[in-house]
Parts: sequence; C-alpha cells; structure tokens
Amino acid sequence: MAVMGREWFADAVLYEIYPQSFADSDGDGVGDLQGVIARLDHIASLGVNVIWFNPCFASPFVDAGYDVADYLTIAPRYGTNEDMAELVAKAGERGIRVLLDLVAGHTSIEHEWFRRELAADGPDPAGDRYIWCEQLPEQVWQRETPGTPAWVPSPGPRPGFYLKNFYDQQPALNFGWVRRPGDPAWRQPADAPGPLRNRQALKDIIAFWLDRGVAGFRVDMAFSLVKDERVSEGLAATVALWREIREWLDDAYPDAVLIPEGSEPRTGGPAAFDADFFLVIHDEHGSLFDNHFPGVLPFHEAREPFFDAAGKGSTRVFLDGWDAARATDPARLIVMSTADHDYDRLCCGPRTAEQLGAALTFLFTWGNVPCLYYGDEIGMRFLPGLPNVEGSVCDPSYNRAGCRTPMQWDAGPNAGFSTADAARLYLPVDPSPDRPTVAAQEADPSSTLHFVRELIALRRATPALGTRTSTRVINEDYPFAYVRGESHLVVVNPRSEPADLAVAGVVGAPLLSSGVTAHAGGLSVAGFGHGIFNFEP
Ligand code: GLC
Repeated sequence: MAVMGREWFADAVLYEIYPQSFADSDGDGVGDLQGVIARLDHIASLGVNVIWFNPCFASPFVDAGYDVADYLTIAPRYGTNEDMAELVAKAGERGIRVLLDLVAGHTSIEHEWFRRELAADGPDPAGDRYIWCEQLPEQVWQRETPGTPAWVPSPGPRPGFYLKNFYDQQPALNFGWVRRPGDPAWRQPADAPGPLRNRQALKDIIAFWLDRGVAGFRVDMAFSLVKDERVSEGLAATVALWREIREWLDDAYPDAVLIPEGSEPRTGGPAAFDADFFLVIHDEHGSLFDNHFPGVLPFHEAREPFFDAAGKGSTRVFLDGWDAARATDPARLIVMSTADHDYDRLCCGPRTAEQLGAALTFLFTWGNVPCLYYGDEIGMRFLPGLPNVEGSVCDPSYNRAGCRTPMQWDAGPNAGFSTADAARLYLPVDPSPDRPTVAAQEADPSSTLHFVRELIALRRATPALGTRTSTRVINEDYPFAYVRGESHLVVVNPRSEPADLAVAGVVGAPLLSSGVTAHAGGLSVAGFGHGIFNFEP
C-alpha cells in the first residue's frame, strides 16, 4: 500500500458489506465486526482491495443505520471502536483498505444534537444544527423525499416543524439555504453559525475515523446538504462545501478518498470527490441492469434492460451518459456496482445464475472502478416480498430487504451465517434448497465464485482492463463488444439468442471465456456467452 496520494483508488476493486447480514460471531442473529474479521480470508481470496461498510455507528436503526445517533461510536450490536481498529489493521495486512459510510445530510432523532434542540424553546444561541420553522411555509421545498411531507411537526417542547432528509426520524442537518428573494429568517445562509458548526462537525467526524486508519468514506446523499439547490443550477453551494472539505483533506489527509452517492455536478472548478457512483438509480446504469423486477422506482422508467435474456435492450443511454462524463473529465473515475443495499441483486426476477457471467465480465472490464456487493460473488438471489425490517420498505413497490439477506456461507444451520434460532435472524436466509453457498462453490471449479476470482485476478494483472486506458466500442448491440487499451477485446452476449461478431485482430486463445468460438470472420457467441481476448488492432 505504498501508493501516495489518492492514485490508489484508480486500482480499487470494492466489496460492499452490509454489516447486519455478513457474518454473526456472537449468535444474536445480526452480523458484527468480529464476524467480518473471521471472514477476511474469504474477502481477500476474491482479489478485492477495498471494503465499503454501510453505516455501523450507534443508531436506533429506523433506516438500517442511516439514522446515526453517534458518529463516533460503533453500534454495540456490531462491536466496539477497538473491533473496527482491529478490522482495519487485519484488512491492511491483506492489502485491503476500509471505507466507512458518512451520513452527512441528516442524523437520527436520537442524536444528542437533535434532542438538545428539541428540548429548547427556541433557536440555539450558538446556531441551530437543524432546520426549524414555526409555521409551515406556503411553498414546501422538497427534493430528497418525494411523496411524503418534508416538514415534520415537532413533538416538542420546541414549537414548529423540522425539515427531514429521508424518513421522519432523519432530521436534515442545517447546512444553510441558497439565497432567494424574500427569504424568511429560518432559511439561513450557508455561512450562518449553525451551518458552520455542522461543517466543522463533518471534518471532526472524518478526522476521527481517518485517525483510526480508515481510508475514506462513501458519502450518503452527498448532494443533499445546502437546501433549495436546483440540480439545473449545478448544486454549486453544496459542491463548494465539499470542495472546502477536500482542500482541508489535501493538507491533513492527502490519501483519503471521498466517494459520493450519485454523481458530482461539474461546476468548472476542481472536483471535490474522487469518483462518481453510477448506480441503478441513474438511467445510464438502469438501462443496462434494471435490478427492479419486483418494482420500478418512482424516478425510474420501466424499460427493457440490455442485460436481459429477451435481448431487447440498448446500450445507447449508458454509452451517452458514460461519454458525457468522460467528455467533461476524461480521467474521472466512475464506480459501477453489481448491486447495492438499496437495489435488487444481479440475480433477481427471472435472471438466472447462467446469465451472471456476461454481466460480471462487463462490470469488471469496462474501465469503471468495480464494486462487488457481498453475496454477488456466489450469485445470491434477491428475495422478493420480505417484511419491512429497519425501514427496508420505502413504499409498497420498493422493498430493499431482498438484497439484504444473510450471506450464505455453507450447508450448516442458517447457511453458516449465525448460530441463532432462525426466527431471530435479522432477515431470513434464502429458503431455496439449491441456494448458492461459498462452501459448495469453493468445491466447484465452474462456479460463479471461481469465475469472479479469475475475473478480478485477470483485471488486476492486466492494466489494459483497468481504469487508466481507453475504451473503444466496436459493437453496441448484441453481442456488446469493446476494445480496452487497444490490446484487449471484451465481448458479452447477455441475451439467450446466440450472436455473431465480425471482427479482425483477435489473437490466440481466450484469456477467460464461456461460449465463445473464433472463426475466420470473427467470433460466435452463444446465448449468455462472454470472453476476454488479446487483441491487435
Ligand atoms: C441513501 C442510502 C439509503 C438510505 C438513504 C437515507 O440513499 O443508500 O440506504 O436509506 O440514503 O440515508
């Protein structure tokens, strides 16, 4: 880990761990940090070199820990701050860095800052940390919480209403408002005392964990901070806030990375964040992997995804988005995930294990920073219809529980996740008799697990497949094919029908492939086939 500055992130292969569901070492039915430590060899065996944890701080868990009650204390159910320090050290011994999740825009109603303001009968003389108004404003500004009222009546004693950021129990921190004519007093400017206290608090939280060895943060709802900012206006005030934090980091912690949820708007100045995060929340990614078969998000158009057996999709929306991101900033890193804690897994709805090879090949060779969601290395399935656990059901059509089920380790009770009674598990284990497990796939050289290891090893050994080289599309339809670094050809056919690629320049046997045969005019790719080849233009 001798790479100076933040260059190391260009070679990152991330592994996202939802701490509730990875490994339970103390038999209470909920995962914990000692459980992760005991499984570090598995994580290292994948070839990933960064772990990103969802929030693991003290919380009442109304939103699975995205409602933080104390940023500086690991939630007791996961262990202690010492356990986190041990995990960071032991991961480091294996060449793995650790990113935590920084919930910057809101806290829990149980945070002491909120309790104190709730108990007061008026504004804090040192500046309010939250956003309060005494009467409901006529024009209700709302960007982050579609469908539910943004202002929550105060349970008192403080009178009035507070602004929330997501659920009612997640009051928005006060980072100020964009100035508009006729602003009432509660729309404080971004340099008012309360917003400045919160900026300093963000730095203090970041420094606290960086001092304990973590490598940086994924920043939750990173662009939700300054209120009444319009996306069409570039969210300039929030970007400026993050740029100030980046400047401080450049001096104090130059190799720490910050990765936002979503994409950073371009304002002309230097970037505040180290990458963009293309998730299925974006149309670009959603057009390829519509991981929403049980339900389509309100802001997500129903469509035929490209990575689908029917083969009716298009890569155009994705390619336009990718090209646009590259046009403004050719060296910009873009993180693309197999799935995450908010979206269905790759293996969801009708998508079967045999379809995963093409999707994984693309996600690990396109030139993005890849992020593997825990369990996707064995093709764990999304389980529809689970009960609401810790805010997993956002609305009746959007249930996140199915991607948060326990990791499937072996054939033991609870798939080796926990020794608790099944009824006490955080969420039920996939009940299918043929559910994939790490142990079974270890023993099967043709398994998804072996394939993922080979794919990541090939990527890490082949600079042309990484983030620093060119990507040239040679066929945007089925089979999707592109050349990396003018030295490697990748072809994927996500549909069930075979497809043919006319191409010259393929050299020798495939480096990693399934269902691809070379002929004089190019390559024949079976349904769900995929391959990576040496290439000479
Ligand atoms: C982000 C998280 C999500 C959480 C929300 C509110 O979108 O990914 O899980 O519910 O922010 O913090």
